[in-house]
Amino acid sequence: MDNAFEVVELLDAAAEYFRAEGLADLVACSQSTGSNGHSVAIEPDIDDLVRLHQLIRDRRAFTVLEFGTGYSTLVIADALAKNADDFASSDAEVELLPADAFRVFSVDASEAWLATAMARIPCGLQTHVVATHSPVQIGTFKGQLCHFYERLPNVVPDFIYLDGPDPSDVVGAVNGLDFSHRERTVISGDLLLMEPTFVPGLIVLVDGRTNNARFLANNFRRTYDWLEDPGGDFTMFELAEPPLGPRNRARLAYCAGED
Ligand SMILES: C[S@@+](CC[C@H](N)C(=O)[O-])C[C@H]1O[C@@H](n2cnc3c(N)ncnc32)[C@H](O)[C@@H]1O
Repeated sequence: MDNAFEVVELLDAAAEYFRAEGLADLVACSQSTGSNGHSVAIEPDIDDLVRLHQLIRDRRAFTVLEFGTGYSTLVIADALAKNADDFASSDAEVELLPADAFRVFSVDASEAWLATAMARIPCGLQTHVVATHSPVQIGTFKGQLCHFYERLPNVVPDFIYLDGPDPSDVVGAVNGLDFSHRERTVISGDLLLMEPTFVPGLIVLVDGRTNNARFLANNFRRTYDWLEDPGGDFTMFELAEPPLGPRNRARLAYCAGED
């Protein structure tokens, strides 16, 4: 019984955060452009959007790389705009800012869904969003079946949100296997390609896609703290290594605190 009450309270807290941060209005204003006629439109998931917004705000993230565009792009842009305002009113040095600060780089295999997501972004948030269209090709990583976007935004993010691609967007087959089989889970290998250039403190949030998250956990070479949350249906990684040098240390102190 106690647990049931806790869950209700949590859901209420998410709904309250969604309203208080102005996200309910942002999403409501954009919902009329929600469907693009190419596939069945999924409704916004309030709990997922709140978790994403809260993490980016709490972590004071600078640069977000998003795989799989949607309402999340709008919510990330809002969080980054608020992070930018907080930075401007803090006493942090401007030199601390990384290239590409306060922007979300959203990569998607579907031109139609990318256009739908971009049409949702209000004028005041457009400078915070960069869209990249890229096909996704089936491939292998060390002989293991996975897939890769052909073109990635050339950025070094401090926050990655993995919520794409749609399995039907993965092109090709390896030895007769493809991702159109409805029992086959998506397995993005892109983060393994990028891993050597990750910076300590990086956060990776995987939305659902538990098999993909386990694949990453089994193939990452560096040291992470990570958590699989079956209730919330997400997995989170943090690159838990000492800072690389003074600049990385200073950014981490600003974003995550001295510890
Ligand atoms: C799981 S969805 C991504 C959802 C997005 N991250 C969000 O939270 O709103 C995966 C793919 O579906 C497509 N998509 C985006 N928004 C959609 C929607 N409302 N309904 C159906 N498909 C969508 C995009 O091509 C995206 O890469």
